[in-house]
Amino acid sequence: MSPVKRYVSMVDLKASYRAQETEIDAAIKRVMHSGWYILGQECAAFEQDFARWCGAHHAVGVGNGTDAIIVALRGLGVGAGDTVFTVSHTAVATVAAVELAGATAMLVDIEPDTYTIDPAKLEAAVKAVKNSGGRPRAVIAVHLYGHPCDVEGIADICRRHQLFFVEDCAQAHGAMLGDAQVGTFGDIASFSFYPTKNLGAFGDGGAIVTRDRTLAERCAAIRQYGWRERYLSDQTGMNSRLDELQAAMLGVRLKRLDREIVARRSAAARYDAALAGHLHTPQVRSGVRHAYHLYVVRSAERDALAARLKARGIGTGVHYPVPVHFQKAYAGRVAIASSGMAETERASREVLSLPMHAFLQDEDVEQVIESVISECKS
Ligand SMILES: Cc1ncc(COP(=O)(O)O)c(C=O)c1O
Repeated sequence: MSPVKRYVSMVDLKASYRAQETEIDAAIKRVMHSGWYILGQECAAFEQDFARWCGAHHAVGVGNGTDAIIVALRGLGVGAGDTVFTVSHTAVATVAAVELAGATAMLVDIEPDTYTIDPAKLEAAVKAVKNSGGRPRAVIAVHLYGHPCDVEGIADICRRHQLFFVEDCAQAHGAMLGDAQVGTFGDIASFSFYPTKNLGAFGDGGAIVTRDRTLAERCAAIRQYGWRERYLSDQTGMNSRLDELQAAMLGVRLKRLDREIVARRSAAARYDAALAGHLHTPQVRSGVRHAYHLYVVRSAERDALAARLKARGIGTGVHYPVPVHFQKAYAGRVAIASSGMAETERASREVLSLPMHAFLQDEDVEQVIESVISECKS
């Protein structure tokens, strides 16, 4: 085996600070000198800019992407007695949020090519819940890894069965269907600004996005004790606010986001061209643009391949090694659609995320490609 040239990591968070250091430092100073640290001008400005960037009407900043889902569901009036359909092949946060909103999750299998919810299995599950006297209310479609789910298929099911369509865009800032970005297709969408995300804060952050003004206003109240105005709660709420420091820094990061997504796509295109003959590379549905939060390949010998790449100085990750329905906190308790979880379980054994971020250098991409090809041959 050739010696390690240098380490190529999965992500490089310091690089995103260095790329905009002067502007970020200025934003921090501005907030520190303002004397206003929670829900002020910075958050309002970022909400406007982010909504515009998404092509949506309204954005409401919250504390993180998990809370964004909770606030979205509560804003829609989804809670106790309601069934919310989502996937098991996701960050556990998606399912946790459903339960924290008081609703019941039903997990549905994914399509093997896109790792997103399978519409045919979804519809069968919705009908089964209806027939058994349950109350299907919403679908949370996760645009996993940055690949849009089958938006049209899911929107159609939601229309016919009168379900809310919630988009979990935590991994998909900048993913597109035709000319429109994810987050603009459903009734409401949730975003995470966890530092590793395509738009990452320097701490926690999240937002909901919607075209519906009344819904946005309800969500804005829910994030702060249900306040209509200071000290007057018209509804029950919680505390989940995007703070001024994170909002100010996100505003700076947002200016560079388009460029960073182009960089991700260009690294992905180089991986695709070089690796396609050697292992299973990401498939992209026609008419969509992947945002490559993660570049995920699959291999029947995933763990051995990851270990060999690590020895060569290539960092990898597994998203996700244990489906939610196998997690100790959920196994045997969370409802699973009767079509089963064959694709989810196979994906959890085979998926491997290669280094992917906006600051990969040409030589990093080369080193990953060379190492993967050599290790696939050996
Ligand atoms: C698909 C998905 N949904 C929700 C979340 C939750 O976001 P946060 O970590 O900001 O709460 C994440 C982040 O890990 C995610 O990847």
